[in-house]
Amino acid sequence: MKAHISAVAHYVPPDVFDNNWFASFLDTSDQWIRERTGIIERRFLRKGATSDMIVPAARAVLEQRGLSPAEIDCIIVCTVTPDQFFPSTAANVQRKLGASNAWGFDLNAACSGFVYGLWVAAKLVEAGGARNVLLCGADKMSSIINFEDRATCVLFGDGAGVVLLEPTDDDSVGVLDAIIRMDGEGGRYLYMPAGGSLRPPSLETVANKEHYVHQDGQTVFKAAVVGMADVSAAIMERNGLQPDDVAWLVPHQANLRIIDATRRRMGLPEEKVAINIDRYGNTTAATIPICLSELYRDGKLRRGDNLILASFGAGYTWGSLWLRWSLQGTPE
Ligand code: ACO
Repeated sequence: MKAHISAVAHYVPPDVFDNNWFASFLDTSDQWIRERTGIIERRFLRKGATSDMIVPAARAVLEQRGLSPAEIDCIIVCTVTPDQFFPSTAANVQRKLGASNAWGFDLNAACSGFVYGLWVAAKLVEAGGARNVLLCGADKMSSIINFEDRATCVLFGDGAGVVLLEPTDDDSVGVLDAIIRMDGEGGRYLYMPAGGSLRPPSLETVANKEHYVHQDGQTVFKAAVVGMADVSAAIMERNGLQPDDVAWLVPHQANLRIIDATRRRMGLPEEKVAINIDRYGNTTAATIPICLSELYRDGKLRRGDNLILASFGAGYTWGSLWLRWSLQGTPE
């Protein structure tokens, strides 16, 4: 028995902020941001928390699948911007949806959250530990970026993507394989210095702006180019997949140049790569499920399509997952 995605939807906030908006108060330009990252605009949530972006996407998923909230077994929320440290954002989603029979938890693997979560959820479903899993990738990055730091704040956006994982008797479709990695040595290059048990919040940590994303961009960039490309090529090789066999690369959207390096290593043409970084920036755990949702909505996925999902993020965490799409047509 395999686990397959039986519904997918996303939510992005309505308020759009283009590169020129940043250029109005920072020493940056539309040209620099476009050329170095591929980002043109992103969405920021003005009011509310990460769970408030998940809930509309989750409702759309339930409607697609014709399920009531009470029929959800398990909720996993992949995020680095939980509503609070505790209770979990999964618990908040459960309450807001009225998913009275669901248990669940949050998963923190930064930009690789959705790939990690999909592998965990698939194994849970395959093992019979849950009849279904509502898997959410969501981040309100605007809550942890320093709008005075031009090297980080222009990169991120807010959004949520949600899928439902269910068992299928057809072993040829669903989540088929994954290569997932972590290297804690990378932690010092991309992190939030304070707020946790290591450096609890204090006047000093706030004054020092330690509650924001800190990143050594170039070091992370180099590790991401190698890491994401390596696992993506390796998963193709391990499963005997040739470039012609792959319908879509669905990569984490951190930087168009990182995506392009991965695509080239896999031997894929540009038209087989899902891209929305230009419109949403890096929404961390949400990038891949938002891409999946848009591909499905736009009728670009066919049953039997081989998809390679690939990610790289803080930790370091990275991974690649082979998924064979199981749904026909577009969402109703
Ligand atoms: N506008 C104008 N200039 C800028 C900006 C900006 N917004 N940001 C940085 N610069 C300047 C720098 O100050 C530097 O100037 P200097 O040469 O005078 O010192 C110059 O541009 C070059 O800076 P680099 O950091 O070398 O630029 P680079 O080409 O590496 O691009 C970037 C920076 C976009 C951050 C890139 O390194 C990157 O994408 N890194 C990886 C990000 C990533 O994948 N993160 C992981 C996911 S996040 C997560 O997991 C939560």
